[in-house]
Amino acid sequence: TSHTASLTLDPAFVVGPVRARTFGSFVEHLGRCVYTGIHDPGHATADADGFRGDVLELTKELGVSTVRYPGGNFVSGYRWEDGVGPVEQRPTRLDLAWHSSDPNTVGVDEFMRWAAKAEVEPMMAVNLGTRGVQEALDLLEYCNVPSGSYFSDLRRANGVEEPYRIKMWCLGNEMDGPWQIGHKTAEEYARLAAETARAMRMMDPNLELVVCGSSSSDMPTFGEWERVVLTEAYEFVDHVSAHAYYWEENGDLASFLASAVDMDHFVESVAATADAVRAAGKHTKRINISFDEWNVWYQKRAESRPPTGDDWPVAPVLLEDRYNVADAVVVGSLLISLLRHTDRVHAASLAQLVNVIAPIMTEPGGRSWRQTIFHPFALTSRFAAGEVLRIAIDSPREDTARFGEVPVLDAVATHDAETGDVTIFAVNRSVTSSVRLDADLRGFPGLRLVEAQTLSNPDHTWAATADDADSVVPVANDSAAVADGRVSAELPPVSWSVLRLARA
Ligand code: AHR
Repeated sequence: TSHTASLTLDPAFVVGPVRARTFGSFVEHLGRCVYTGIHDPGHATADADGFRGDVLELTKELGVSTVRYPGGNFVSGYRWEDGVGPVEQRPTRLDLAWHSSDPNTVGVDEFMRWAAKAEVEPMMAVNLGTRGVQEALDLLEYCNVPSGSYFSDLRRANGVEEPYRIKMWCLGNEMDGPWQIGHKTAEEYARLAAETARAMRMMDPNLELVVCGSSSSDMPTFGEWERVVLTEAYEFVDHVSAHAYYWEENGDLASFLASAVDMDHFVESVAATADAVRAAGKHTKRINISFDEWNVWYQKRAESRPPTGDDWPVAPVLLEDRYNVADAVVVGSLLISLLRHTDRVHAASLAQLVNVIAPIMTEPGGRSWRQTIFHPFALTSRFAAGEVLRIAIDSPREDTARFGEVPVLDAVATHDAETGDVTIFAVNRSVTSSVRLDADLRGFPGLRLVEAQTLSNPDHTWAATADDADSVVPVANDSAAVADGRVSAELPPVSWSVLRLARA
């Protein structure tokens, strides 16, 4: 019938491996992400380093793999040296990006200690806004050189004997954006990024370097920016970044739910540009994508200006979006898009981790809770395993103002060849109608259903609060069943689901 989406799964439809780094996140010195987010020395669960134990636990439950640090727009004015050495001697600095003060209580060494406790891989960004090659080299020396030089010995004097050997480094942040401190043209940035990358590799050849791509697919320089930057920096970098935020505009829920159409287009366009530069320059290696900022974000840039005037607060309330069920469906749907492109998207970061457009919320010195968007991320990072399979989908379509007709059902699957487990992640993007998922499991004889969970709510505007974070969470979908080599399930409108199948 018109409300059934027919899917075909086949073990041969492999896109590439599920990559742990797809499930990264981001901690910026912004608002209450660091101070009162991950770091809150007076909190009841704080450890000797002042890190909140409740936030560490939630970070692990979320299944975060990498964490990008320390920005974001913040990094473009940051002096990393301010954040090392005795805490009482560290200066307070003005952060122009967010019109805040930073006491530098948390710096590189504290972040690295937190990352070890959270069991995440750090992804370090250097300042290419107000600074350049030398300061990037100094930070790299501090972090990765074992000993016997000024900055490596400074790290040891600060109590860290072993080098961190941080692998992933971002060459600045959103340098295409006019809002960025030290914003540059594509040509200016291309030269600086290439020179910085080349010098960093001379110090440490084992790095994976991420060059800045576009801040969104709406940027006027989108495409051309990537072409110019990669033409200059191709041989010195491994990944080009992509950033995208989505929000419901003027009550147009249907377009908002279809946001992954833009993410698909973004990834495919950047990959095409990278491959064109590869061909033109006769390069052999491929450049992949680090989608190192993505999320739902309601307060569009113009409406989310930081405070102004003489007040430069420490840890102000900034960008503390409250996410509803529809937002969580979009986050789940964007993860489907990222997984579907696992051949080109080699890393991604949900922006951000705590309080600032985040899955985890905290009260200063008080409670912490999961926002709705926490759930699809946690379940996808937990159950995506093995290889990503492209699914052939024949779905009913609905009209959207922004993207035209789109299939209401979108899905991706993973297949763990060792255990035989198959997991399907699916969204129903229809505002009004349920859709029946009916998947042909050809090539996977004898699968049984382990569980099906669906996140939805008759009121898709429901949002979690500190008082009630748990009355809407993913629950068992009892309509799901396996019969005659097919799995089927009824997916309510505005819903995200995971179906787990295993060998009988
Ligand atoms: O994640 C919030 C901000 O969004 C980051 O600081 C910036 O890189 C992007 O514009």
